[in-house]
Amino acid sequence: MQGFTRVIEVDEVPDPGKTLVEVEGEMIALFHVGDAWYALDDVCTHDGGPLADGELRDHKISCPRHGAKFDIRTGAALTMPAVRPTRSHETAVQDGGVWVRLRAAPLDQGPGALGQPTSIPSQTAPAVAAAAQEAVTTSRSPSPAPTGPLCEETAREILKEVKDPELFVNIVDLGLIYGVTITPAEDDAAKHHVAIDMTMTSPACPAGPQLIADTKRALGQRPDVAAVEVRIVMDPPWTPDRMTEAARDQLGIF
Ligand code: FES
Repeated sequence: MQGFTRVIEVDEVPDPGKTLVEVEGEMIALFHVGDAWYALDDVCTHDGGPLADGELRDHKISCPRHGAKFDIRTGAALTMPAVRPTRSHETAVQDGGVWVRLRAAPLDQGPGALGQPTSIPSQTAPAVAAAAQEAVTTSRSPSPAPTGPLCEETAREILKEVKDPELFVNIVDLGLIYGVTITPAEDDAAKHHVAIDMTMTSPACPAGPQLIADTKRALGQRPDVAAVEVRIVMDPPWTPDRMTEAARDQLGIF
């Protein structure tokens, strides 16, 4: 079998089951489901999570870091925050062993190419990002900014103006706002200092600086706000179950 590498014995992996193997220096997640074998790069395309450590259910593997699901048969990204496929490889069973032949990486080796972590880009994403784009197209009518007294609820409503530039979903419904603290401004009793505890969908999220700036701008334009502080919190890490139903609907996650 030209190009195939024997990676493990058939009876070493239960059905269903998974394991991590090495082929030509690359770490490959190997799956055994219903007498069939599947092989994927052990790399979540969201932010590099180790897929072989995830939960396998039917033909789906969940990334242990932020919960993105991939189809083990094709490598397709099925749910946010991953939107790009991870590379899948050929498998074969012969002489009691499981064999894997690596598929070449695609020629496009730019940011987010298969097997390379990327943080939720949308421009070549599959159906989930398309659904998000369509959702934002139909939800552009801006609602007026709340004008009542400043409180946490008001601040959260205002922050719904701030949208993740790649997911097109506001940061409140995404579950990125962990806390809102409002205190009187030191030098002006009529104004407030607002501190926002915010997380990101991944530590390397490239949208971070923009989200911070947009958050400060959205709250800072109120006349009763003296200063806005944004504190980035990565513990506990963001997970998809922090999203509201509205965000899930917008992203096409069910
Ligand atoms: S690294 Fe896999 S979902 Fe974030």
